[in-house]
Amino acid sequence: MFHPRLFENRNVVVTGAGRGIGLEVARQFLDCGAKVIVHTGRKPGRDLPDFLLTAESERRALLLNADFSAVGGAAQFAEDTLAFFDKVDVLVNNAGTMLGRFPAATLTDAEYEAVVRLNQTSVVALTRALLPALKAAGGAAIVNTVSISALTGGSPGSSIYSASKAFVATYSKALARELAPDGIRVNCVSPGTIETDFHERYSSREKLEQTRKSIPLQRLGTAEDCAPAYLFLAAPSLSGYITGQVVEINGGQLIC
Ligand SMILES: NC(=O)c1ccc[n+]([C@@H]2O[C@H](COP(=O)([O-])OP(=O)(O)OC[C@H]3O[C@@H](n4cnc5c(N)ncnc54)[C@H](OP(=O)(O)O)[C@@H]3O)[C@@H](O)[C@H]2O)c1
Repeated sequence: MFHPRLFENRNVVVTGAGRGIGLEVARQFLDCGAKVIVHTGRKPGRDLPDFLLTAESERRALLLNADFSAVGGAAQFAEDTLAFFDKVDVLVNNAGTMLGRFPAATLTDAEYEAVVRLNQTSVVALTRALLPALKAAGGAAIVNTVSISALTGGSPGSSIYSASKAFVATYSKALARELAPDGIRVNCVSPGTIETDFHERYSSREKLEQTRKSIPLQRLGTAEDCAPAYLFLAAPSLSGYITGQVVEINGGQLIC
């Protein structure tokens, strides 16, 4: 889709890329010639597709895992990344999930902390740890995955998750200004309802069908619908004058 050499000699880090949206983003960066650190999720040994294993054997990809809900998980991942990359051209903070539906009245401190640590704190920790390597790249880009729920508030039981995504969207806008003098652009991709394992866990088939009918384009989204926006926002030649923005990918589910 994009030029096969668009990211040649570029070092890219994608978190949450063992499946779903992140996996497709990693695939498309590899297809465009990037060297990619693929954070495959919490544990090693998941069933990974052949293209990732091939890229790993050809040293175009390094597969790492780390639990970002655990204290120090993101810091450990950053340390492992910096052992491999001395500069980072593109950081995609994508790992995240709801972890469960937690009604406001019964939400425990442990549940609250796990959701915030994964979706919010890990983005701050990883960005901070990789900043020197991002500055060293000259013209780097950060692309953070947020969510339509950052604007709508999401559905019952997802308040902390939705709020954590709103945090990341606002944090990204602040960083866009702060890091512009270092030549670093910061933008977000905000998926609507995308058919990945995410909804297998947290939404019923009936709820998904109801959502589908409410979407102007009359279908749920796919990882393939989302991935090109990440590459677009990461490439200075395509989006060099875009920073501090959130790209909504939702088939018209939210138009405002
Ligand atoms: N699907 C949607 O409709 C939708 C909508 C809006 C926003 N999003 C956001 O899009 C991003 C990707 O979601 P997806 O739909 O592709 O979901 P997914 O298929 O469930 O993938 C989520 C990725 O995040 C990783 N992850 C989850 N918990 C983790 C943890 N504690 N530590 C480290 N990694 C962890 C997963 O690794 P494991 O394999 O170890 O779980 C996986 O690689 C997330 O930030 C999500 O919040 C999704």
